[in-house]
Amino acid sequence: MNKDIWVIANWKSNKTIEEALAWVEEVGPKIPKKPTLTVVVCPSFVALEEVKKAVLVGGYPLLVGSQDLSPFEEGPYTGEDAAKQLAGVIDLAILGHSERRKNFGETVEMVTEKVTRALEVGITPLVCVQDQTTNIPDGAKLVAYEPIFAIGTGKPDTPQNADQVAEIIKKQHDLPVLYGGSINEDNAKAFLQTNSLSGLLIGGSSLNPAEFIKIVEIAAGI
Ligand code: PGA
Repeated sequence: MNKDIWVIANWKSNKTIEEALAWVEEVGPKIPKKPTLTVVVCPSFVALEEVKKAVLVGGYPLLVGSQDLSPFEEGPYTGEDAAKQLAGVIDLAILGHSERRKNFGETVEMVTEKVTRALEVGITPLVCVQDQTTNIPDGAKLVAYEPIFAIGTGKPDTPQNADQVAEIIKKQHDLPVLYGGSINEDNAKAFLQTNSLSGLLIGGSSLNPAEFIKIVEIAAGI
């Protein structure tokens, strides 16, 4: 097929710095160098810089992303990491994940501000949507369709349905659409082979280096 494919690891609140570096050392050398394949790892804030350094030193074809960023510019916002602070370290930011909308009261307005902050400093904003009705702010560069019932449950959406949702989103926004929710090495291929999906956002299965590499290899073979 040779379409452009994104494989993105969302570690959520997992891995110490030491564990993060061990993952990079195991996964980094095994990522195939292929122009149509982009692999991104999104650690917690605490590990971002060390992971980025390890990727640079190793020369791995791996981008580094955050799982969030502040809706505000730099300034008096205790506990927030501003896009400008992150810009030297990350290439991409996951924004509007359903866990943030649910547990941290993240609103459409906040996600919109975060997209703006990311764009101001050249960070690629990836916006997570829960279905085709979720607002996608102007300026989003990537979309991840992640139905809530599929996240961390072992019950993914069907590739057919995810493909249909991606098709609808693409018609409205002309953006690459990824799928996320209970992806593993056994089901990854079926999603990657659909017409409209351009990759995967992977939580649980991205934590294990061997499993993540298997999925990356499947993506490289598409
Ligand atoms: P999961 O999470 O792969 O563990 O279901 C995906 C996500 O929330 O991005």
